[in-house]
Amino acid sequence: MTKVIAIINQKGGVGKTTTAINLAASLAVAERKTLIIDFDPQGNASTGLGLDPEVYRGATIYQALVGQKRLEEVLCKTELPDLYIAPSDTNLSGAEVELVNELAREHKLKNTISSMRDKFHYILIDCPPSLGLLTINALTASDSYLVPLQCEYFALEGLSQLQSTVQLIQQALNPALRQEGILLTMYDSRNNLAKQVRDEVEAHFGGSVFKTVIPRNVRLSEAPSHGKPVLLYDIESKGSLTYLSVAKELIQKHIKGNQAANFSIQTTQMDSQIVEKPIIHSPPPLPHHAEVSPS
Ligand SMILES: Nc1ncnc2c1ncn2[C@@H]1O[C@H](COP(=O)(O)OP(=O)(O)O)[C@@H](O)[C@H]1O
Ligand SMILES: [Mg+2]
Repeated sequence: MTKVIAIINQKGGVGKTTTAINLAASLAVAERKTLIIDFDPQGNASTGLGLDPEVYRGATIYQALVGQKRLEEVLCKTELPDLYIAPSDTNLSGAEVELVNELAREHKLKNTISSMRDKFHYILIDCPPSLGLLTINALTASDSYLVPLQCEYFALEGLSQLQSTVQLIQQALNPALRQEGILLTMYDSRNNLAKQVRDEVEAHFGGSVFKTVIPRNVRLSEAPSHGKPVLLYDIESKGSLTYLSVAKELIQKHIKGNQAANFSIQTTQMDSQIVEKPIIHSPPPLPHHAEVSPS
């Protein structure tokens, strides 16, 4: 069964995109077919994975969202065979305005990704730093949401607003939406304040906090400028090991939720459904657009 997870926090710079890229890459190396939906007009997940904006110009999640293209037509391959991305650019910021008068405007992304639901184990949605229509679309399309939280003084500020938004979505648009967990990011163990924030969050939210804490790690911040997830940039770095550990927690949780049997069946089905276009550009600029056959 596919699990769709929105990565949300209305604050910028808390590690949403870093988590989307590196958690997705970690799931992919664990042989879970994974799709990142870059749902932030800044397009950081797309460029952070080494995509050239010229390659996906006119074929982004925006065109899929407004019905100009099928989602299959905008997917891009990455350096990891099991990791795909639907890229994004500044066009997406127009969607927020354009969709306002549309019928079922909150369901646009849900409808857009429905054709991919049985083709990936995980779909991670990298959200913009706001609780606007794009994030509402992401939460309506998702099974769960994951909140990266930076270990700093104002970390908890805004969490209650985030929770009330989630509650409204659960009541009106997506009753099945669950919390995947809070992921503490940029943790510096030498900093007493970070320790206090960690203790406070763990006391407050207990079981819904990931056991793995992401440390502040320079490799994590360097990797996007090389267009790579950290595990292809420095596999032995703390950043790499901790995101692998988050992926393990996530997979174990879902296996416990009795989805283990489904995973193997779905993998076989997906492999036979995904037909990749012959590679046109050689040698790479990676990644190339990939075409996924309709189901
Ligand atoms: N654990 C970390 N250690 C060091 N730098 C990090 C870490 N996580 C994120 N960063 C850096 O912090 C900045 C903001 O992270 P980002 O993931 O883009 O946040 P968001 O998507 O929430 O705006 C980026 O420059 C990123 O490289
Ligand atoms: Mg971001």
